[in-house]
Amino acid sequence: MPDLNATGDTASLSSVDTASATDVRTPPVAVWQVLEKLKGDTLKEWRLAEPVGRPMIEERNLDLPYPFGWYMACFSGELAEGEVKPLRYFDRDLVLWRGEDGVVRMVDAYCRHLGANMGHGGRVRGNLLECPFHAWRYEADGSVAEIPYAKTIPPQVRKPCDPQWPVVERSRAVWFWYHPQGVGPLWEVEELAECTSPDWTPYEHHEWYVWGSLQNMAENGVDAAHFQFIHGTADFPDYKLTSEGHRRTGVVNAPMDTPWGKVDGQIAYGTVGPGQSWTRFSGIAETLLVAGVTPVAKDKVHVRFAFTQLRAEKDGERASVARGLIKNLCRQLDQDKVVWDRQRYITDPVICDGDGPIPAFRRYYAQFYAEWHDPEAGPAKVASLNMARKR
Ligand code: FES
Ligand SMILES: [Fe+2]
Repeated sequence: MPDLNATGDTASLSSVDTASATDVRTPPVAVWQVLEKLKGDTLKEWRLAEPVGRPMIEERNLDLPYPFGWYMACFSGELAEGEVKPLRYFDRDLVLWRGEDGVVRMVDAYCRHLGANMGHGGRVRGNLLECPFHAWRYEADGSVAEIPYAKTIPPQVRKPCDPQWPVVERSRAVWFWYHPQGVGPLWEVEELAECTSPDWTPYEHHEWYVWGSLQNMAENGVDAAHFQFIHGTADFPDYKLTSEGHRRTGVVNAPMDTPWGKVDGQIAYGTVGPGQSWTRFSGIAETLLVAGVTPVAKDKVHVRFAFTQLRAEKDGERASVARGLIKNLCRQLDQDKVVWDRQRYITDPVICDGDGPIPAFRRYYAQFYAEWHDPEAGPAKVASLNMARKR
């Protein structure tokens, strides 16, 4: 256990402190105290480290189906022309490449010939992906276009793969479409104007692995009561939420104390599907947060935050406030992660007044489970979604 009375900076942290912060048997309050002292690379390591002592996925009721939608694969700047990148999401090995035409494509990583993982050692040939083992070359739909040493391409591999992995680039990130039954994209990824405006700064990136439920994480935004107890905010947020189809938006008025007095801050939140969300902060320091949450496994979610801010403020007299806002938002994610890493998914929670619009959120979110609409789906999976159905 960490010494809860310890003071000082990162240098005084012992390996016992950092080890206890990545053990889910350490109480959250003790982890939050260790986090107060973590900085720089040590903090980054904690955000990505695999916690030990986690109960089984089934015990935490995390064996839910994956919801369909667009999910972030990487930021655009992380994949150059001619580059190949191995990925692991949705319990699968995948491979992403950018052709000479600048277009990004994605297929399952295992070659249809003899199973080499093309994410490791695969090369881009024109716009095709070439396997490192015998140089079979793939189109974006997973069909084989060329085999340099064969006279004919076997007809089985001339056909596209199942599943397909549609890919788009929006808001300076690469997004791919996931649907468990192979249904194609049902909506567009949001393009946010700030991301390509010269008046806004380049992205500042932060990332985490959260060892918990994708749905629990999404619910956090409407969980009004936790803001006081986990993030220490003075008031419960005053929400105005709307949802329409796949899209959900919300506005929260947030009076904030600043060096120039009380400011009427506003937080405007948007999400389309389970994988993409964005938040605009105004009043204190104009900031856009683009967030991507992509499941790696049933109990592991890759979270990415990208911040862009108005250049005039970021480089001007409000620079420290602008920096402080980003730090504070990342800190809130750190605080929530400590709970999420230990949390169970409750199918049918008891909700009281003051809890925020959690039932409405669950009704909205249930639409992204294909199994919910599928009578062939196993009863256990459907039962786990009953909460959303009943309300
Ligand atoms: S395993 Fe990929 S070309 Fe043979
Ligand atoms: Fe939170």
